[in-house]
This record gives sequence, structure tokens and C-alpha cells, in this order.
Amino acid sequence: MLEKMISLARDAMGRAYAPYSNFQVGAVVRGRDGGLFSGCNVENAAYPQGCCAEASAISAMIMAGEKRIAEVVVMGRGDELVTPCGGCRQRIREFADDSTPIHVCGEEGLRKTVTLGDLLPLSFGPENLDLTNKG
Ligand code: THU
Repeated sequence: MLEKMISLARDAMGRAYAPYSNFQVGAVVRGRDGGLFSGCNVENAAYPQGCCAEASAISAMIMAGEKRIAEVVVMGRGDELVTPCGGCRQRIREFADDSTPIHVCGEEGLRKTVTLGDLLPLSFGPENLDLTNKG
């Protein structure tokens, strides 16, 4: 399954619209029901309106009716690890938990697997807003 996700992330990275940064990113999330959802970064001439690959993949997952993330693949080029940006860590957090694997990849394949808890410790999430059974 991981190899399939990496292959899909490579395809997604190739579809990125990144004329301003020239930095293409692909992401794939696997839903807990088994679906695979791809996304790429989509930049904009009004720079802050650009969208990260992870956000695109999560949108596709939600559109398919899935609400929980089992694992994530992120792929980008260059010597550095392309880990999800801060905002995307929080976006993933909404649908995942501390133990959710995040597979950080280059075009050649897997470079490092970390967990969401590694990337976003002591995070704030939907449970913080759930006041049921908490007096
Ligand atoms: N980017 C992503 O798509 N995901 C990340 O986690 C890191 C950054 C994109 C945003 C922008 O289009 C380009 O990479 C350079 O920052």
C-alpha cells in the first residue's frame, strides 16, 4: 500500500501548479476505509491564496465522505526533507491522531517516516471543543 501511495504522490507532484516557487509537492492521504486521495500544490498570482498539496488531498478525502486519516505521504524534491508545513500539520490533525504515520518522500521514494505527534506535539484538536461529558 505504501508503494502505491508513493506512486500516486509522484503523479500528483507532476500535476502541481507551482509557477511562482517552482517547488512541486504531491500528497496522498489514506482514509481509514481504505480510499486513497491525492493532492498537489496550487499556487496563485496573489501568493497567499496558494494551496498546499496536503490541503488538496484532504479536500478530496472529505468530498469522498471519509473523515479519518490512516496515513499520509508527502513528496517534494531537493536535499531537504519535505515535511508538511505548520498549517498542514494542523489540517492533518483535524482528521488524524498522534500515532498517524507521515511518510516523507523524495521523488526516488521514502526518506523518513514520522508520526503526526512528532510533527505537532501537544496539539489542539476537535476533542478540545467537545464539551460533552466534561461538566
Ligand atoms: N507546500 C506544500 O504543498 N506542502 C507543504 O507541506 C510544504 C509547502 C507548497 C506550498 C508552495 O506552493 C510551495 O510548496 C513552496 O512553499
